[in-house]
Formats: sequence, structure tokens, C-alpha cells
Amino acid sequence: MLREKYADEIDALLARFPQKKSAVLHLMHLAQNEYGYMSDEAMKEVAEILDLDPTHVMSLAGFYSLYYEEPVGKYVLEVCNDLACALRGADKFVEMASRKLDIPVDGTTNDGLFTLKTVMCLGACDRAPMLQCNLKFYENLDETKFDNMIADLRARAAEGDADPSVVERIFSYIK
Ligand code: FES
Repeated sequence: MLREKYADEIDALLARFPQKKSAVLHLMHLAQNEYGYMSDEAMKEVAEILDLDPTHVMSLAGFYSLYYEEPVGKYVLEVCNDLACALRGADKFVEMASRKLDIPVDGTTNDGLFTLKTVMCLGACDRAPMLQCNLKFYENLDETKFDNMIADLRARAAEGDADPSVVERIFSYIK
């Protein structure tokens, strides 16, 4: 299905690399965007396109926090609570986000909109508390900014989300 639906994008992507297998992380983003998470089917499809063993794709999905092995919400809020961010209040921020969304860490809201996760350093240590949502950074957060961000994302979801998709962002540089 990926091969048919994204034939042009995949061809352009593979042309950028000397070896097909080097495109694996990009294709995994494409698959995840299509299926919502790295399902068994998604991992097998990526492996087939690249002539890889499916266990190789599975091991990458398990290693990188940007790939989800379980279904997630439309917006995945990944709060960094690594050491530098913890020193700037990340743990309290996670508690607040969990309370406001009424979900535990790794939980998803009943409406399927938000999943809350904690992750290791995202490279924005001096701007904590911070989170990454669908590859976009939100920095120097506090409760008010979090409320506004959630309200904005809810409004966007209600309008069909006009933001460029993850796939558009990932593939924009190969055009
Ligand atoms: S420790 Fe959180 S971004 Fe670096």
C-alpha cells in the first residue's frame, strides 16, 4: 500500500541514497504517518520495500522514541524530563500536563487527540520546560502556555488540521 500510494515520494527518496537500506528511517516516518503507529504490517511493508529483514525495522522502532509501537493520539506530546530539563521543572510540568489532560504518562485522551510521553534530551535544554509535538518544539512552557497550546491544537483538529503533515515536512527537502 505504501509503495503504491507514495510511489513518487519513495522513488525520489531512494534516489538520494547509495543504498536502499539507508532510507529506512524516512520510510518508517512515512509508514507511521499512514498507519498511526509502527504496526506489524507497517514494519513488514517498510522491510519489503527496502529488502530488509523485518526484525531490523522492528529493532529500529524499539530504539528510537519517535516511532510508536502502540497506537497514539493525533498529537503526541513528548515532554523532555532528562536531567537539564528536570532542573528547570520538567517533572512538575509533566504532572501538570497529566492532570490537565486527565491521562497518565503514556496514556491517550478518550477523544484520541493527545498522548503524553516523557523523552530523553531533545537538545533544547536551556528552554525547558519544553516538549515536542509531532516534530514541532514548544519551549519555555508554563501552565498558561500549555493551556493555550492545547486549546490551539483542539481548534486545529476541529478544523481538520491545516498544519503541514509530518510526511510533508520530512519529504520537503527531497523535492
Ligand atoms: S535535557 Fe531536555 S532538552 Fe536537553
